[in-house]
Amino acid sequence: MPVVSMQDILADAFGRRYGVGAFNIVNDLTMEAVLAAAQETRSPVIVQVSVKTVRQMGARLIRLMFAEMAGRVSVPATLHLDHCPDRKVIEECVAEGWNSVLFDASKLTYADNLAQTREVVALAHAHGIAVEGELEAITGVEDGIGDRYGGPVVALDLALRFMRETGIDSFAPAIGTAHGLYKGTPKIDFERVSEIVAAEPRPLVLHGGTGLSDAVFHELIARGAVKVNISTQLKITLADGFRSYLAAHPTEYDPLKLLGAVRKDVQAVAANFMRTFGSAGKAA
Ligand code: 13P
Repeated sequence: MPVVSMQDILADAFGRRYGVGAFNIVNDLTMEAVLAAAQETRSPVIVQVSVKTVRQMGARLIRLMFAEMAGRVSVPATLHLDHCPDRKVIEECVAEGWNSVLFDASKLTYADNLAQTREVVALAHAHGIAVEGELEAITGVEDGIGDRYGGPVVALDLALRFMRETGIDSFAPAIGTAHGLYKGTPKIDFERVSEIVAAEPRPLVLHGGTGLSDAVFHELIARGAVKVNISTQLKITLADGFRSYLAAHPTEYDPLKLLGAVRKDVQAVAANFMRTFGSAGKAA
């Protein structure tokens, strides 16, 4: 199926209140496995890429690979740039025809973040590309980007003003979730999601999906946090997949068998998340 816009994928998920997994891929194997999981479960899907991976592979190669692989499945899929504080990388992805970008200006002052996010939205929207906005740093460092301790949370009226005045398509508020593995049980601010969505009905983004319980996912998705980001769990599955295959097959040297086994593991984990988020069976 041809690539679908992020706006269309999120509008359907927000309207029907199911979660769409946004999975951070790191190479062709993980991209293909995530798309295969979407096909298996008949789920719309967001293929998400960190700036670090873009720098390694190049925005053009990723976009071309995505167009080819997404064309081989019959479910809606879209390509998104994760946390990007670098305007040059955003401009490159826009020029290469990606579908969506997260401009992460959470390190800037409120006024600078607002002004720069507006500029990014103007550029992206001129090309039909969606923008995810972020005001507060999500706790935890992901692929070199982020804040280990999180930052202050802005008042509701300022968050709403940011959404309205920038025209972002989705918003990633700090709600107590964190990138990486949780050390204890996270304290989630469910009410903040409901308050924002009640005042400004727009899809919210749930960062730090790895390690949250099914009940937390269901509650946040029902309240409107319908883009659900998963990165760490895919990395763990990928690395463990290599380890366990090599340990079980110490004399096997066929790379395609090794890669095939790992790909199967990644697909199974992604498909499981899709069922949990309620996107299974939602592909038109
Ligand atoms: P996890 O690494 O905790 O799954 O979070 C992913 C994420 O939010 C990507 O932006």
